[in-house]
Amino acid sequence: MAKVKSIFVCQTCGFEVSGWMGKCPSCNSWNSFVEEISEKQPDKISDKSFSAPVLIGEVKVDNEDRLSTDIKELDRVLGGGMVKGSLILVGGDPGIGKSTLLIQVCGQVKTKANILYVSGEESLKQVKLRADRLGIANDRILMLSETNISSIEKVIAGEKPEFVIIDSIQTMYSEEISSAPGSVSQVRAVTGELMKISKGSGITIIIVGHVTKEGTLAGPRVLEHMVDTVLYFEGERHLSYRILRAVKNRFGSTNEIGIFEMTGSGLREVENPSETMLSGKPKDVPGSVVVSCMEGTRPLLIEVQALVCPTSFGMPRRMATGVDYNRITLLMAVLEKRIGMQLHNFDAYVNVAGGLKVDEPACDLGIVLAVASSFRNIPVANNVVLIGEVGLTGEIRAVSQIEKRVTEAMRIGFKRCIIPAGNSKALSQFEFKNTEITCVDNVQQALELLL
Ligand code: TYD
Ligand code: MG
Repeated sequence: MAKVKSIFVCQTCGFEVSGWMGKCPSCNSWNSFVEEISEKQPDKISDKSFSAPVLIGEVKVDNEDRLSTDIKELDRVLGGGMVKGSLILVGGDPGIGKSTLLIQVCGQVKTKANILYVSGEESLKQVKLRADRLGIANDRILMLSETNISSIEKVIAGEKPEFVIIDSIQTMYSEEISSAPGSVSQVRAVTGELMKISKGSGITIIIVGHVTKEGTLAGPRVLEHMVDTVLYFEGERHLSYRILRAVKNRFGSTNEIGIFEMTGSGLREVENPSETMLSGKPKDVPGSVVVSCMEGTRPLLIEVQALVCPTSFGMPRRMATGVDYNRITLLMAVLEKRIGMQLHNFDAYVNVAGGLKVDEPACDLGIVLAVASSFRNIPVANNVVLIGEVGLTGEIRAVSQIEKRVTEAMRIGFKRCIIPAGNSKALSQFEFKNTEITCVDNVQQALELLL
């Protein structure tokens, strides 16, 4: 009989120790160890488990190995569709819309074989009611209410579906592990089983994983490195926009995002995100500017807002939503030192409208102008888009993919683009009708032009 052993597993990173510890030596989180019983399998290597090395030229690849989900935004994030035999993790806060997205995928996708939807959270009735409400009419969907991984394995072997959805990994368990479903060792064991199934049979498996409050998946990073693709579904709960982001992709780029809107009848793809993001922008108001940033290969126009007001405390407050806090303090220091704006007596709040998060330096110039505009109480003209990275000496540095950013601004109908002087050469070969391009060298010049 295998020896029963008790171990302590960090619920944040999966680090294992033999005795309880207050702080995890691996990820430094406090009070995260939970006792789990692991039945160690005796190490045995049978003759069958050896695989012989193969020359790379002799490895067979099928050309037609991607399956389009028929949801363009999702396909883009996946790098052109689901790769056959891959393991895809869709993570996100509870209630953000993961199950909704996946049942919609089931409804849209065109497959030759059946699709298996394994629900461990909701009853089949609940899933069916939701599918009916969303108008999903695909008779290829097989529903299964099951949480035992070995039963699921048998069903998959019998049905040979085109792809499988596991909703969610935290409800599944393996009989070989005695700890509760959702614990690190269960999640790891179940994912390991699923990985074996997908690699062995070439069936794509999509795993739903809930995210804990700290922002990592419960049963967390252990999951991320095992799967081929990790997608996060993000968004503010009270806003209707949802952003699907690839954080790991073995078969494509990780910069792409997909934008959806949660409506009464499910998730809708946002086809023109720039227009949607700017739809609520106020006109002629100080502190509101438009920047052109890149999300993957796609340019996106977004509104950056700032509010600067006198502080009533000794320490002025700085707050940033959707942009890096440290970047805000840095850019305000540049304004203070290089332009001489006395910001040290003022609170400053910077916000990216629409619940988006941007971390691109190309938005710097926009942030600087938004803060300066609010400070001086002078609006920046409505038809201007700002592009540029700001350096510590107040210089404006060139950014990548300038022509895409400017083209997007022109398409939406902006009349003027302020760009770094360093980018003027790259743009000289393009012709932009109806849009005036103005190059600036430093923050001072940009302020003189616009405020
Ligand atoms: P769900 O897909 O169940 O979330 P998850 O699987 O990530 O936990 O999404 C549930 C939320 O979505 C719920 O708060 C209601 C909302 N919703 C809509 O607004 N419209 C719809 O058509 C559906 C199906 C859900
Ligand atoms: Mg769900």
